[in-house]
Amino acid sequence: MSILSDKHLLLGVTGSIAAYKAADLASSLTQAGAQVDVILTPAAEKFVPPLTFQSLTGRRAFTETELWGGEAHILHVGLGHSANLMVIAPCTANTLAKLAHGIADNLLAITGLAARCPILLAPAMDVGMYEHPATQENVRILTQRGVVFAGPGEGRMASGLEGRGRMLEPAEILGHIRVALGRGGPLSGRKVVVTAGGTQEPLDPVRVLTNRSSGRQGYALAQAAVDAGAAVTLIHTPTGLTPPVGARLVAVRTAEEMLGAVLSESDGAAALLMAAAVADFRPKRAAPDKLKKGAGIPQLELQAAPDILAALAGSRSRPRCVVGFAAESRDLIANAASKLAAKKLDMIAANDITAPDAGFEADTNRVTLLYADGRQEALPLMSKSEVAETIVAKLGMLLETP
Ligand code: CTP
Repeated sequence: MSILSDKHLLLGVTGSIAAYKAADLASSLTQAGAQVDVILTPAAEKFVPPLTFQSLTGRRAFTETELWGGEAHILHVGLGHSANLMVIAPCTANTLAKLAHGIADNLLAITGLAARCPILLAPAMDVGMYEHPATQENVRILTQRGVVFAGPGEGRMASGLEGRGRMLEPAEILGHIRVALGRGGPLSGRKVVVTAGGTQEPLDPVRVLTNRSSGRQGYALAQAAVDAGAAVTLIHTPTGLTPPVGARLVAVRTAEEMLGAVLSESDGAAALLMAAAVADFRPKRAAPDKLKKGAGIPQLELQAAPDILAALAGSRSRPRCVVGFAAESRDLIANAASKLAAKKLDMIAANDITAPDAGFEADTNRVTLLYADGRQEALPLMSKSEVAETIVAKLGMLLETP
């Protein structure tokens, strides 16, 4: 998660039972390489002690005691000035109201008022409190000022009641943090379309012809493009993966559906990253009813599925940069080079699917990048996230070249 490495985050924790989840968030952010300074309100300390955060972040967690200590004058402005982002999770109705109205009666509220960095709030409050006109008005005021909200979600509260006001899960807040940090990144202002997963071609209402693509490389590309500030559309088949926060999702199943989605979504896009494993062949006919064993072994008649990249090459909605992916089991470079030329690509990422540490179901990938101008770059073995970040960085460079 290079978007988080070396970033300085300020994590405010307020007095809600969801405060225990803030410990998980502090831990994930720290593990992703961020420096996390935590400020607890007096009410938050009743739920989770500062020691928990200190142990997880390896840094001091600030409390009200520090506000009245010797370093107070540096602290209350200093923390908010040096951070890349201030996150308050959970953010109670009380703290939300203080921020909206400039009330600065504790270290966190003072820091919020003095902060020069963007602020992201993850509200947590009981049913009715979030919907209350007073809170809604405070949300409106803060949104107008550029404060970003992550949630709240709907669900069961600690009180046993159901409704809107539940803090988002830490993983989801982390996704919102990535979106906030990515703003103004190298791809900001650009639309990037990403395809991911293996297409499914129906044989009958229960059976499909598909392939072993997990969708992981495509989802990692979508996340890397979000991190780079792009407006991302992720066209995906059913994968069971959690999509990146901030990406617009278009769900498809067949090659035909993916073709339609790619053609319409590519309009106005700067780039297409075509990581999906698209069927080359599909059953000529899908049986309207389930094929029964008793009727004997069916003879499958196949026909060609549409070649999406080939169709896009001749279309008016072709984005400025089109990147293909070649999964090969032999003659990797020669096959990838001929796909690059035939599909009129700007770049193709080739990987050898026979290597145990690369390809379909692995967490890692070993990729060689081939460019339209004949350049080749062999990347070392990397995680799929690192491969994605590298490809997105190269895409940024391609889009910059006149
Ligand atoms: N692709 C596509 N439409 C298809 C098949 C593939 O747009 N019907 C895209 C893939 O998403 C990928 C690139 O083309 O970005 C190369 O895919 P690959 O399956 O390696 O190549 P094919 O063209 O299918 O060639 P072959 O099956 O002969 O290797």
